[in-house]
Amino acid sequence: MLIKQASDIRSSEITDKKVYLNRREFIRAAAITGAAAGLLGAEALAPVSAAAKGAPHGRKLATIKKGFALNAPDKVNAWEDITSYNNYYEFGSDKSDPAEMARNFKTEPWTVTIDGECNKKGVMNLEDVLKGETLEERVYRHRCVEAWSMIIPWVGFPLANFIKRCEPTSKAKYVEFYTLYDPKQMPGTRVPVLRWPYVEGLRMDEAMHPLTILVAGLYDEVLPNQDGAPLRLAVPWKYGFKHIKSIVKVRFVERQPLNTWQQQAPDEYGFYANVNPGVDHPRWSQNTERRIGEFLRRKTVMFNGYGDQVASLYTGLDLRRNY
Ligand code: MTE
Repeated sequence: MLIKQASDIRSSEITDKKVYLNRREFIRAAAITGAAAGLLGAEALAPVSAAAKGAPHGRKLATIKKGFALNAPDKVNAWEDITSYNNYYEFGSDKSDPAEMARNFKTEPWTVTIDGECNKKGVMNLEDVLKGETLEERVYRHRCVEAWSMIIPWVGFPLANFIKRCEPTSKAKYVEFYTLYDPKQMPGTRVPVLRWPYVEGLRMDEAMHPLTILVAGLYDEVLPNQDGAPLRLAVPWKYGFKHIKSIVKVRFVERQPLNTWQQQAPDEYGFYANVNPGVDHPRWSQNTERRIGEFLRRKTVMFNGYGDQVASLYTGLDLRRNY
């Protein structure tokens, strides 16, 4: 993220070569086999990956409530896109690194520590975090601060459910999240590209918002390692760096947390990180985005298109200063 200049972000990088080649193969296959099925024409030529789901790992989730697709009418990205083009610096800083380097990452057993201003401090097994929750598919827009985007069918449950179980006290104004820091398993953390562990935070009302979910799956499968297994955050109106992966600690705090990218470059990355085409990154415009799988750039929409649901959280807040 920080390391690249805007001018360095070439289209060849934005759509990684393997994905691009796979897509070309898919289009070629569609042209050959799809003609009879009426696939040819604009649809068949469109380099959008909705038709192919790729090769999931086969660890299916048991029960999922289907069909929640709030504000995401666009084509869903293929498994292959979502699992081969990742930001997860603990496993390397190239988009293709996490798929490779996180292959043997151990996500079982997994615990989440609950700490800070709440009545239920302690350590919870992942199974207990998930216990009693209905896993639901949420097709969300995902907009990275680097000006690319995807449409992703996350499977998860409202973070609010988990927070209520922790019984935060009246002093809890923010929630802070921590990723696992394990240099043995995470080669990226052996170099000080970021200050480890990766930390993120949300204001309590953002964390309690029904759109904010804890994610445990992708499509109908267990979340792949490179996407933040076994538990990550999705906050669809915020830039991707708020979507912290592989969460091991949740802490309720009184003061606004200092999130990792803000520590790293406070003039470039803020605490709020709301998708906002009106506030450019100092080194590139946030006005447009490249949807992975498409050739033409799209206009970026305020709050990533979730304004009707979330704009009221920021009434009276200067979103140019609080970027
Ligand atoms: N979480 C951790 N622990 N480490 C990271 O490097 N990268 C963030 C976010 N969460 C990151 C992280 C960024 S910059 C983005 S855009 C999203 O993860 C990418 O999520 P994805 O790979 O599932 O698309």
